[in-house]
Amino acid sequence: MATKSLIFSFYTLFLLLLLSPFSSQNPTPAHSELTNYGFPIGLLPSSVLGYSINITTGDFSVDLGGSCKVTLPPDNYLATYSKKVTGKIVAGRIADIDGIRVRAFFKWWSITGIRSSGDDLVFEVGMVTAKYPSKNFDESPACEGKHSAS
Ligand SMILES: *[C@@H]1O[C@H](CO)[C@@H](O)[C@H](O)[C@H]1NC(C)=O
Repeated sequence: MATKSLIFSFYTLFLLLLLSPFSSQNPTPAHSELTNYGFPIGLLPSSVLGYSINITTGDFSVDLGGSCKVTLPPDNYLATYSKKVTGKIVAGRIADIDGIRVRAFFKWWSITGIRSSGDDLVFEVGMVTAKYPSKNFDESPACEGKHSAS
């Protein structure tokens, strides 16, 4: 009996893995690096050309090839990524971010930091923070249009 249900759950797990966005999306090394630090891949758009990281300091630079506009779940905020996004990453925390902006309350705001807090992600815009479930970022968004934003 127990063996049977164990086999069943392995089978279910296998199916889930096959069907999950992770396997179909083929994340880039930069996306894998995000998961190494405890973040979901959806924080970066799918159009990553390359990245570099200093594993001593955590300073990183991501090359997106061009600026990129995406719509962030769940509130459909418009966000833009610069051609180059830089920051400092350690386990559960990304600081000194440069290159990610979000449109809210009729203004563009720079996201300066992102923290992982349990099942949530905490986005820092200066002194203000906003919390969203990490699972909203399980998929890497595609850039909308080619020469969007500035
Ligand atoms: C990482 O940063 C440290 C401190 O700035 C520096 O000494 C070191 O050379 C850097 N490593 C690489 C691989 O760039």
